[in-house]
Amino acid sequence: MKKTHKLNLAVAAAGLLSIGLAGSAMAFHSGGVADCAGCHSMHTAKAGGKFLLTGTDQSSTCLNCHEDSADTGPNSYHISTADANLGPGLSPLQRTPGGDFGWLKKSYTGFGYGDAPSPPEYGERHGHNIVAVDKGYAADATHATAPGGTFPAANLQCNSCHDPHGKYRRGSTGAVTTGGASIIGSGSYDTSTVPIAGQAVGAYRLLAGLGYQSTAASGVTFPGVPVAVAPSTYNRTETVTQTRVAYGTKIGSGQAPWGQWCSSCHGDMHTSSGKVVHPTDQNLGSSISGMYGRYVKSGNLSGTAATSYLSLVPFAQGAANSSFANLKANAKNDDSALGGPVSTDQVTCLSCHRAHASGFYSMLRWNNDTEFIVSNGVYGTGMGRTEAEWKAAYYDRDPAKFATYQRGLCNKCHAKD
Ligand code: HEC
Ligand code: HEC
Ligand code: HEC
Ligand code: HEC
Ligand code: HEC
Ligand code: HEC
Repeated sequence: MKKTHKLNLAVAAAGLLSIGLAGSAMAFHSGGVADCAGCHSMHTAKAGGKFLLTGTDQSSTCLNCHEDSADTGPNSYHISTADANLGPGLSPLQRTPGGDFGWLKKSYTGFGYGDAPSPPEYGERHGHNIVAVDKGYAADATHATAPGGTFPAANLQCNSCHDPHGKYRRGSTGAVTTGGASIIGSGSYDTSTVPIAGQAVGAYRLLAGLGYQSTAASGVTFPGVPVAVAPSTYNRTETVTQTRVAYGTKIGSGQAPWGQWCSSCHGDMHTSSGKVVHPTDQNLGSSISGMYGRYVKSGNLSGTAATSYLSLVPFAQGAANSSFANLKANAKNDDSALGGPVSTDQVTCLSCHRAHASGFYSMLRWNNDTEFIVSNGVYGTGMGRTEAEWKAAYYDRDPAKFATYQRGLCNKCHAKD
């Protein structure tokens, strides 16, 4: 009896892995709670593990599938590169919008200049240090709590931000709830079903919403689920075309603007009332949205808004522009939707940061620690990286897409260069 049960699980797991590779639409979670056995094992759970999980801890359980153990990325739903590909000179392989946690294992010893961090530049400064013992991820040693908040770094897990049971759902009215209509599939993609009455799709990326508490939550209160739509193939090189996630804002109940969502743990960072206050969830206004539309690269403001989108500096579509139809229209990976912002679109945390990790300090989308990000036509060999390593951190963009001497990307909105 027990033997048969085990065999079925093994077959199921193998099936999941192979069909999952074909693309994000192939199902495990399908927008909601997945097959319990994918994460829990009634009789063979890891010794010492909690909740009968298949990994030693929560995040290790997720990474059983979400780490690319064969290291062939970028592909599908992988968000972590295994250690074998993270040695000196090598870079994480995944190119998802949230980013590859492998950057947390990349320390650099070169010297920067200006206000660049002095060496060594610890990998842990590159993002959210999730604790995953089986995969070699440890808690952040510098930030004991979330900067601007009290959430303990030692408790940071995948399920601090994602609901492992995927209960949050968007129904036919657009409201996000945890009950009512049942979930029929993922709600994250441009190809996702539009739910009719009696149906629902999963919240964007199974993210935590109103009332969500993981067991290690330490009292965090999420204001709702943040809204966005990703193209159905989203883990890909941006050598030729960009991967555009259309971020939205709150337009219905149970939803929340991105800045407020991140602020559940970072209350005092970049808020209107906090201490470190670059505006967030704030309209760009006509002069900044106009600038974004014209900005091509340092010294070149001759662009047109219709082709001005840059995935290194995304913006959130404001309330007037945040219906799922509007978001879906922009969630493309073939450069068929490169329109820039209108004045009511917004700057938000994800305009400057990724959500998981990046190749740069403070999990930024670009290197904000040197005067030039491209110098004499190349990314260069500053801060202990090779040209190839810089390029990987920019999702394989050709430096020729920037100016020969390109300054930092704050200028996409502010054009002070
Ligand atoms: C994607 C992985 C995943 C799947 C699939 C999954 N769980 Fe869980 N489950 C977890 C994690 C992670 C925890 C620990 C949560 C925490 O630390 O707060 C958990 C905790 C639990 C708990 C104890 C805490 C609680 O929330 O009550 C129960 C009971 C549970 N799961 C039942 C289920 C059932 C039943 C299914 C299938 C219908 C299921 N799980 C599917 C990952 C999963
Ligand atoms: C058994 C393998 C497996 C495990 C374990 C697993 N996942 Fe997944 N995950 C997948 C596959 C396959 C996909 C893509 C298909 C899908 O979304 O159903 C996916 C997709 C996702 C997505 C995108 C879903 C969407 O609709 O946008 C998120 C977010 C995610 N997983 C988070 C987690 C978290 C958090 C855990 C641990 C609590 C976890 N996964 C555990 C296999 C797994
Ligand atoms: C600090 C919060 C946070 C933590 C911790 C976190 N995620 Fe995410 N995750 C997000 C957000 C936000 C997005 C959406 C990113 C975007 O679209 O720009 C996301 C996106 C994803 C995706 C879709 C692919 C991508 O990168 O865009 C997957 C899969 C996923 N997360 C899995 C995981 C797993 C597995 C873990 C733990 C190893 C984890 N996440 C930890 C917030 C988090
Ligand atoms: C569940 C709580 C939680 C949420 C939600 C959360 N963070 Fe964090 N964040 C933390 C913790 C804890 C740390 C400190 C540990 C670390 O840096 O690994 C941190 C660190 C950071 C850092 C510093 C990273 C570094 O390398 O120094 C940045 C930047 C950041 N978060 C941005 C964000 C953004 C943007 C969002 C929303 C997409 C977000 N956070 C959502 C808990 C959270
Ligand atoms: C306009 C760009 C921009 C926006 C928008 C932005 N940040 Fe930052 N953030 C930065 C930069 C640049 C840094 C690096 C440190 C610095 O220069 O202050 C940083 C640093 C951080 C840190 C690390 C602080 C530390 O002590 O290590 C956290 C946490 C953080 N941001 C969270 C957020 C959150 C949460 C939001 C949204 C509410 C947000 N940021 C919005 C640019 C931005
Ligand atoms: C996505 C667009 C965007 C990006 C990228 C961006 N900003 Fe801003 N910034 C804004 C908006 C919008 C305002 C508010 C303008 C207003 O209220 O008139 C602003 C305001 C400011 C202000 C004035 C703040 C005040 O209180 O008056 C400074 C300084 C600033 N930004 C610096 C930066 C720096 C440095 C970076 C890069 C780390 C950056 N910005 C990146 C959109 C952006």
